[in-house]
Amino acid sequence: MNDDDRDILLTVHRYLEHVHRVAADDSAHRRTELADVISAHLGVDATTVPITTESLPLHRYVDADIALDELSALGDGRVVGVTGGDQRWHLSASDLLSSSYSRFAPGPISYETRAVGPGAERRVVAFGVRLLTFESHPLAVVQRSTSPNVMPPAARLELLGADPDATGAALTEIRRLMVERSVLRGQVLSFVPTEYGSEAGATFLPRPSVDADEVVLGDGVLQTVVDHVVGIGDQRDVLRAAGQHLTRGVLLYGPPGTGKTLTVRHLLSRTPGTTAVVLTGSSVRFVTAAAEIARTFAPALVVLEDIDLVAADRAYSPQPVLFDVLDALDGLESDADIAFVMTTNHVQILEEALAARPGRVDLGVEIALPDAGARRRLFRHYAGTLPFSSEALDAAADRAEGTTGSFAKELIRRAVLSAALRGDDVPADDDLAAALDDLLSSGAALTRLLLGGKESFSSI
Ligand SMILES: Nc1ncnc2c1ncn2[C@@H]1O[C@H](COP(=O)(O)OP(=O)(O)OP(=O)(O)O)[C@@H](O)[C@H]1O
Ligand SMILES: [Mg+2]
Repeated sequence: MNDDDRDILLTVHRYLEHVHRVAADDSAHRRTELADVISAHLGVDATTVPITTESLPLHRYVDADIALDELSALGDGRVVGVTGGDQRWHLSASDLLSSSYSRFAPGPISYETRAVGPGAERRVVAFGVRLLTFESHPLAVVQRSTSPNVMPPAARLELLGADPDATGAALTEIRRLMVERSVLRGQVLSFVPTEYGSEAGATFLPRPSVDADEVVLGDGVLQTVVDHVVGIGDQRDVLRAAGQHLTRGVLLYGPPGTGKTLTVRHLLSRTPGTTAVVLTGSSVRFVTAAAEIARTFAPALVVLEDIDLVAADRAYSPQPVLFDVLDALDGLESDADIAFVMTTNHVQILEEALAARPGRVDLGVEIALPDAGARRRLFRHYAGTLPFSSEALDAAADRAEGTTGSFAKELIRRAVLSAALRGDDVPADDDLAAALDDLLSSGAALTRLLLGGKESFSSI
């Protein structure tokens, strides 16, 4: 190879390098139409401004949408949708602005409907870009109701603005509005798991209405629970002034069907305006999210029903769920007005863990099988205005030793049903006695077990 050949080769080599560089530049930094619209709003090239990302649990997304609506309204804002394929859900804001594989452009806004209360819904922007002005700084916020590429799935806001301080101030304001205007505050909430085990967002439950006289327990039992959960809340100012802590943990334990859930429902009806999160069985693993809600929206009540079912469950985290529960109790500011109420059938499963970290649960109340007196009251309660004689009711209650409140309720229904089947509107004492014979017969052992009581599967 002579010098001329070498020169030619070198020139060709440089030329090819140049071609390669231009091609790479062009594909990597191709500004999308969406970026043009955002740039026009920001007054600078959107592909060059810093991006601040805020990840949100799914149940806080409605609050974010409300906060952004309010901020938009103040600053003459608008929303633009994004076209360019479903991959927009998987790409970060910077990839939407300069992308080598798709031309993202302004398009229709994606909306979703989300619950904002029991039976109430709101249309939220599921994917879109807010163009707004905050304190005279133009700002763009890419908002999406979920990011499928992160686990567990989370909602996301990405804020773009030329001035990072102004962007930070806008984010602070969004967070403040999200708490102040939250749809979660004062509601009774639950979490449902998706098939992948992650939360599917919050569900709103109607607040139960259960009067104290509907809960028939041993002497003073209900009052003890109410004093601890409701009373401490009612006296929060006095307790705070005296330097006392307000957080409290109550464990209700006892056999199935004795009224633990009913007691919880009474507590919920006694605390209107309190934000409550009710987690049952497998949902208890969302306890950390529940504690976060309780902290943010105190006064709050967190109910963990049947915690023994998941106490030792290691399926979703290496730590048994019970440790998450105790951590949640540990993490509460002691002057926050927050009550945790837990229920279980198997207190012995929890004993070791609770004993190892004393003080987190400060009241344990046994909701026992009703004794003779409580059974008589239960029978009268469920008989209501039906024309049974008191002798027949008391005799039935005395015979039904070892049974629960669920049993009393079912017994009365059966007496009413057998009268109805016979063509009578109201049952008589004989119907009550016959229904009791039936439920106490050996053939009804499984039914008795299902209604709770002192029998066990091994005894039938
Ligand atoms: N002490 C009670 N007073 C009045 N009704 C009761 C009582 N106990 C049970 N019942 C009736 O039985 C139903 C079931 O009771 P509840 O769900 O409260 O039992 P539980 O103790 O939570 O049982 P589990 O441990 O199986 O969850 C109640 O809705 C109520 O109708
Ligand atoms: Mg229950």
